[in-house]
Amino acid sequence: MQDKYKRKINYLRVSVTDRCNLRCFYCMPEGGIDLKNHKEILRYEELYKIIKSANELGVKKVRLTGGEPLVRKGLVNFIREIKGLGIEDLSLTTNGVLLAKYAEDLVKAGLDRVNISLDTLKDEKFNEISRSSSELSQVLLGIEEAQRVGLTPLKLNVVPIKGINDNEIEDFAKLTLDNQLIVRFIELMPLGESYNWAEEKYISISDIKERLIKLDNLISTSEIKGNGPAKYYQFPNAKGKIGFISPISDHYCSECNRIRLTADGFLKPCLHSDNELNIKKELRNGVTQKELKDIIRDAIFAKPEKGLGINADDDFDLNQRQMSQIGG
Ligand code: GTP
Ligand code: 5AD
Ligand code: SF4
Repeated sequence: MQDKYKRKINYLRVSVTDRCNLRCFYCMPEGGIDLKNHKEILRYEELYKIIKSANELGVKKVRLTGGEPLVRKGLVNFIREIKGLGIEDLSLTTNGVLLAKYAEDLVKAGLDRVNISLDTLKDEKFNEISRSSSELSQVLLGIEEAQRVGLTPLKLNVVPIKGINDNEIEDFAKLTLDNQLIVRFIELMPLGESYNWAEEKYISISDIKERLIKLDNLISTSEIKGNGPAKYYQFPNAKGKIGFISPISDHYCSECNRIRLTADGFLKPCLHSDNELNIKKELRNGVTQKELKDIIRDAIFAKPEKGLGINADDDFDLNQRQMSQIGG
């Protein structure tokens, strides 16, 4: 289905929980967020109905996000059910802490691939950034296991932050030399927790690229399975690839293909907009499948031409929801 700017919308990002087993300092407040009551969170049957309707409208790609999606009980069964709807590309964004435990069940249930958020390759730094005692080794095991069972192409999402992990940019890129994985660098966005300081600690993709080409040539490449806005490159003869996501320096709104569903039941036409449609209320008022489709159509139609608050001169407050409540 197309929106009013003729963009094809075929990708739904579904946050299945606002809970997370980490507390990454740029994403969540130290004490966590005010969690929604269980009743406020969409039940699996409700999520299923929404995804089914979206699928009938042309959504063929679904990504499950959180918080941390793997902390929600019953996720494996839910994946089996929605894969049965005929979703062509069913993926998951996870912090990887629980991945080793679930990878095999996830792939058997029909999950196609995973993206893993990882900002450091150092044990202590991992605990510092995630403000938790979970172990980096667990995540690394999760990566290995996900690759072993075929949840591929596997992508690592790295958010470089000045003074925190910017000294590891080269190390992350070098991982692609011998590993068949994709390392993606994402520009830090001023959202929720990072709203007040993101500008100061932000590192642009062009700065990162400049550093990487000192290591070797970066060759542009395109054949990568994915639905997001990343642009991909590769070092000569490397097994893996490097991706760049630049929401700040080169925003990709004109090619945007997605809408989002928050765990508490709001359709969010744009990450950078506070326009949200309360689909939960309608669902719980007993709407028909046809009416449900109309609501999704409305959300797609409400997609703004571009996100607000990306540039400092936009007069828009992106401080309203934490990233963990939207799902990235
Ligand atoms: P692929 O299908 O593998 O390409 O995944 P993806 O990039 O769509 O999903 P992922 O959850 O890995 O997203 C990576 C990051 O890209 C997100 O966490 C955001 O930081 C950024 N991002 C994704 N979609 C949007 C968007 O619509 N707007 C903005 N500004 N940033 C986005
Ligand atoms: N800017 C950019 N990316 C962010 N993420 C969380 N907060 C931000 C932010 N302020 C990323 C995580 C994860 C994805 C779901 O969102 O690192 O990869
Ligand atoms: Fe960290 Fe992701 Fe959890 Fe946020 S949702 S605290 S980025 S692991």
